[in-house]
Amino acid sequence: MLMLALLGSGGNTISDLERQWEVSQSVALALRHNFRMGFAGFTTIIVALMIVDGPLLQRATTVHSAMRTENITLSLLLAPELPTGFSGVSQNGALDLGDGAMQVSEDWKNKVPIELNVQSCNGTCATTVRAPGVSLSNCSSKTWTLVEEDLYDVNATWGTWRSYDSATDMFGNPMFYVRLGYLPIHTPQGSEIASIETGMLQWWYLEDDTFVGDYVSTMCHYTPAILEYEVSIQGRQLTIIKPGRTIKTATNTLSYNIDLPFDQIQPNTIDALTMYLNLYVGVNASVGFRANAEPGNFWGLAPMSTEYRAGVVKYLDYSSDDGMRITDPTPDILADLNEMMFRAGVVSTDWSNATSLMDEGLSIEQTLQSTQTVTENVYRADLRWFAGAAVLEVLAVLFVLPLFWGWWRLDKVQMLSPFDLALAFDAPLLKDVNSATGVQDVVKQMGDVQIRFGMSAGNAKVSGPGDDGAELGRVPGFRLGFAESRVVSEPPKGMRFDL
Ligand SMILES: *[C@@H]1O[C@H](CO)[C@@H](O)[C@H](O)[C@H]1NC(C)=O
Ligand SMILES: *[C@@H]1O[C@H](CO)[C@@H](O)[C@H](O)[C@H]1NC(C)=O
Ligand SMILES: *[C@@H]1O[C@H](CO)[C@@H](O)[C@H](O)[C@H]1NC(C)=O
Ligand SMILES: *[C@@H]1O[C@H](CO)[C@@H](O)[C@H](O)[C@H]1NC(C)=O
Ligand SMILES: *[C@@H]1O[C@H](CO)[C@@H](O)[C@H](O)[C@H]1NC(C)=O
Repeated sequence: MLMLALLGSGGNTISDLERQWEVSQSVALALRHNFRMGFAGFTTIIVALMIVDGPLLQRATTVHSAMRTENITLSLLLAPELPTGFSGVSQNGALDLGDGAMQVSEDWKNKVPIELNVQSCNGTCATTVRAPGVSLSNCSSKTWTLVEEDLYDVNATWGTWRSYDSATDMFGNPMFYVRLGYLPIHTPQGSEIASIETGMLQWWYLEDDTFVGDYVSTMCHYTPAILEYEVSIQGRQLTIIKPGRTIKTATNTLSYNIDLPFDQIQPNTIDALTMYLNLYVGVNASVGFRANAEPGNFWGLAPMSTEYRAGVVKYLDYSSDDGMRITDPTPDILADLNEMMFRAGVVSTDWSNATSLMDEGLSIEQTLQSTQTVTENVYRADLRWFAGAAVLEVLAVLFVLPLFWGWWRLDKVQMLSPFDLALAFDAPLLKDVNSATGVQDVVKQMGDVQIRFGMSAGNAKVSGPGDDGAELGRVPGFRLGFAESRVVSEPPKGMRFDL
């Protein structure tokens, strides 16, 4: 700009040129010249405003998490049925618990997450696995229908037993009974059997005040089996999503081998798990009649042990005033028993001989089709912020470009090196170089000349106190600038150059 102004046809004043140069140096200098800053000063401000480009571009790109789902083949270790002897060994009808059964019981009680032995899924995998569980074999039930008078008849009887409490001299009838058990381990049978026995007393009034009530006692038997579970796997952690569906019953769980005498040690497979679980799901609550039982003065709950009370609280529905209902706990018990057996399927993969203890053709290695969902970080561009930044940049370019208009006319001084400028300003040092040939000629002719900045003979006058403190006065013929080293000397301290 400066050079162009110099080349301008009419020429410019030195103060104009200096101002043009200053306004291009900083916003502060441009503002100091306020309305006289001209186009160059305005451009300086526009370029300074480019600083907001950074924040704009920053807002233009954001990071989001996105889910990617793909079909993969998953390999994992999981026994599809319990290996024979998982619970321990029995002898003379007594069960000696194995380590695996103890670990499974503790883990279930403490709700420890189910962890597979190896990680096979990188994100969240949904799949169907085959794992141990129980399958319903048969059920039988008996119902005692109640009439309204039974509520306050001290002699009314239902259920399979009647209790008597001598301390209160009260008879009791069963109200809520749950027992998870197993067939006696010394009974010769095809498979170990778990049983769930429930007894539930319910009564309520219909809309027209009709009384409806009964006590239903149910006994169901379950055999060990291979179940198909829908699961979700995250890393090594596995969650059962849906209760298992029976695929096949297991035939490796004989609790009593007919060939073995009763007093011989024999493997036991699931009884330890059912026995342990009964401690948490078993309930025996009775109702006892009041001494002065009459209409409106029914029975009271008979005393119960603490762990049994939990079951009553969970399943007894007393919320409606017109009766008492009990929710069937069987689905919960089965889910718990199946979860314990599932855990056993994971734990038994540590057994080196697990395969030989299962039914023929089964393996602890399962290869499954699965969907894997991975959460990934993705960059997303917000084009509105980007457009803002781009507009600003284009604007800055449009303002800067005109400043270069006519650059080609500078010709020899295009580089604007110090010697280009010195030549253009007719510096004494370069007085012998042809100013039209440019800086190349300076290098060619004077390239080896030693120069230095300092005081040299010239047109300047200096004044000021010298080294000795005396007034130097005006000394004609000295100037400060670049000159050949041999004619340059260091100005004395405190020396002042008037021109
Ligand atoms: C995964 O496989 C199922 C069928 O096996 C198909 O319907 C689904 O589109 C597949 N998904 C992907 C992401 O390939
Ligand atoms: C999981 O990630 C590992 C390492 O990044 C890779 O080798 C493996 O193939 C991935 N597995 C699946 C099922 O995507
Ligand atoms: C139910 O199954 C158990 C065990 O297998 C068996 O002992 C019982 O006899 C069966 N009951 C009926 C009614 O089939
Ligand atoms: C209950 O039975 C006993 C004897 O079996 C009888 O003495 C008593 O009167 C009966 N109580 C009622 C309220 O029926
Ligand atoms: C339930 O408890 C009562 C005592 O409250 C007892 O008499 C009865 O035998 C128990 N029932 C069973 C099946 O153990």
